[in-house]
Amino acid sequence: MRALVRDEAKGREFLVGDFDDPASIVAALAGVDRLFLNGAGAQPADGEQPMVRQQKSIIDAAVAAGVERVVKVSVWQAREGERLAGGAHWQIEQHLKASGLGWSILQPNGFMQNFITGQGSFTADGNLVGAYGDAAVSYIDCADIAACAAALLTGRAGDGETFLLSGPEALTYAQIAEKLSVALGRTVRYVNLTVDELIAALTAQGLPPQFAEDVAVLTQGLAGGIAAPTTTAVRDLTGHSPRTFDEFLAAHHGALTALASASRR
Ligand SMILES: NC(=O)c1ccc[n+]([C@@H]2O[C@H](COP(=O)([O-])OP(=O)(O)OC[C@H]3O[C@@H](n4cnc5c(N)ncnc54)[C@H](OP(=O)(O)O)[C@@H]3O)[C@@H](O)[C@H]2O)c1
Repeated sequence: MRALVRDEAKGREFLVGDFDDPASIVAALAGVDRLFLNGAGAQPADGEQPMVRQQKSIIDAAVAAGVERVVKVSVWQAREGERLAGGAHWQIEQHLKASGLGWSILQPNGFMQNFITGQGSFTADGNLVGAYGDAAVSYIDCADIAACAAALLTGRAGDGETFLLSGPEALTYAQIAEKLSVALGRTVRYVNLTVDELIAALTAQGLPPQFAEDVAVLTQGLAGGIAAPTTTAVRDLTGHSPRTFDEFLAAHHGALTALASASRR
């Protein structure tokens, strides 16, 4: 098993390559029979999301290299015409299904890791900010996504199947703020913004207006409960329950503390 990384420091068994460097992808796929396909999320790009071009060309290269099976990370309920990642992953999924390769698709819900990478949006005063209202999200730990991928890549189950992956519980942002308060030993509040306020906040951070609008509208769209269901897929594929948010916070206490204090400076 080997990984493709752009930075040597990030790998152990790895090849250095870039999705935008086709020769590096051809070299990486030599002798590969099963491929785990995971790449960047939505970018502030004009027109088509870069992931569509990148992942379609990797799938084509996998066909040429004689790869048997691809396990692809998509996004929760990828749909035709959806803004940003949802619509882009849907296009890639169609390309993979039509490629003739064996395939399994993982559609994970939001990553718990977003809360330690900065994507979970701490404000300058250390609170959480968003336009989620009372929407609940069954966030998942990436370690559980990886365990599902490993099970699919090392066995025969799941060929031609799409798996909706969730954590064990749906949490509102107010509930997440409570859990962060306990983990950090200080009060973290959830500050709910209107869509227009969130667009303004994101553009003030330097994001292009269209991207900011897409993010804000998608966030608000969760109010209908689309991201709240929990599924049994992690247990079905791995034999163990997905990690709870509390277990995740306990396992990543150092990273969470560092991010939360950096955002308050
Ligand atoms: N974050 C979420 O909540 C969430 C939820 C559901 C689904 N997803 C999907 O899951 C996938 C991963 O999301 P993420 O948030 O972890 O994305 P991310 O933080 O942008 O990480 C993407 C990974 O792809 C690598 N990558 C990016 N561009 C590359 C290139 N040109 N060549 C080679 N490698 C490249 C990055 O490598 P470097 O380390 O070199 O930058 C990084 O390891 C995305 O497709 C996203 O749509 C995300």
